[in-house]
Amino acid sequence: MDNMLYRLVYMSRNNITDDDKLQEEISDILDASQRNNRQAEVTGALMFNTGCFAQVLEGPHDKIQDTFERIQCDPRHSHVSVLAFDRIDARLFSDWDMAFVGQNAQRIEQFARFNEKSGFDAAVFDGDTVYQLLRMHLEEAERV
Ligand SMILES: Cc1cc2nc3c(=O)[nH]c(=O)nc-3n(C[C@H](O)[C@H](O)[C@H](O)COP(=O)(O)O)c2cc1C
Repeated sequence: MDNMLYRLVYMSRNNITDDDKLQEEISDILDASQRNNRQAEVTGALMFNTGCFAQVLEGPHDKIQDTFERIQCDPRHSHVSVLAFDRIDARLFSDWDMAFVGQNAQRIEQFARFNEKSGFDAAVFDGDTVYQLLRMHLEEAERV
């Protein structure tokens, strides 16, 4: 059915190596997310550290697919691995075109540990872990 909701969780390797460019690129990603996701009825959350990105996308199946296909082609990241793609009953990030979990010391530490453990090996990771981490920070997420 068309109105069924899905949730996709992925991680990828952050290819933005230039620290000076990072903020600019992140704002560009959030601008595009705001522009496109609202129209596509896609909501979600994004977090990153210098090593990787983790993102949750929620919405109708075809819209998530379109959005994700575009995202996968983005050279700002690589090694995109899908951790989960499940049907869900309700959105968690319904108020956000793309909630952005910015960086503070605690998050950096948490996410760094994450990264270390995974070594970008999706097998070590599962979608729920990423999802829970993003959910934990939902309250603090910045509205875009
Ligand atoms: C980690 C990451 C997450 C992204 N998330 C989204 C997203 O949720 N929605 C979106 O439209 N673009 C997202 N982008 C940007 C897309 O790759 C692409 O640049 C953008 O959709 C192009 O939009 P435009 O054609 O409107 O300029 C993301 C890019 C990266 C690197």
